[in-house]
Amino acid sequence: MTNPIIDAIKNRRSTRQFTDEQIMEEQMDTLLESAIWAPSGGNSQSWLFTAIQSKDVLMKLNDFVREGLQNWTPKDDYISKMPAIRQHAQKEDYNFYYHAPTLIIASNRPNYDNAMADCALALENIFLAAESMDLGSCYINQLRWLNDYVPLRDYLAELGVPRDHVICSAAAVGHKAKQSNAPERKPGTVKIIR
Ligand SMILES: Cc1cc2nc3c(=O)[nH]c(=O)nc-3n(C[C@H](O)[C@H](O)[C@H](O)COP(=O)(O)O)c2cc1C
Repeated sequence: MTNPIIDAIKNRRSTRQFTDEQIMEEQMDTLLESAIWAPSGGNSQSWLFTAIQSKDVLMKLNDFVREGLQNWTPKDDYISKMPAIRQHAQKEDYNFYYHAPTLIIASNRPNYDNAMADCALALENIFLAAESMDLGSCYINQLRWLNDYVPLRDYLAELGVPRDHVICSAAAVGHKAKQSNAPERKPGTVKIIR
């Protein structure tokens, strides 16, 4: 079975190469509108989506991310990847949002168990809405990793992201410069009991 929604679900890929062209204002409105129509635990809608289109602000964020990653230690098994991530972040051309012209940061109130789930659902809405408008998008984790990096939080606070909010995730959005291939689906990940 197919329809435009199923098509968008299947055609969406993580875009990691963007053109310089900014997305249109109506496209931005549609992305943010799609985000806030996601379901949320207990209809909390306690998220905040902060969309950044200023190149200067984005580059400043990139500087904080590069610095922050040098001392960040993950709490999970991602730790094995850290030497490579740190080395990568030291490179002159490192850019955590792949030079996308728009970055949407999803944050949520503290001490809320569904913070991450709500923001992840909203982000998928953004990704699917982007795909439906032939825009590329990518889930970006670095700002979440650096939730506790004070210089970054100071700067985000200046941008209006409440200091006590949990940074859940971010979406890089723009025009696709290159279409990514679809990774194969791993077998054995669904079961039907009838
Ligand atoms: C929770 C989560 C975190 C992710 N973080 C990043 C990230 O920080 N940077 C990135 O380039 N891709 C990130 N991705 C994208 C995945 O790498 C991507 O979805 C996966 O390789 C499958 O490719 P596809 O999205 O094209 O289907 C993330 C995806 C998820 C669901």
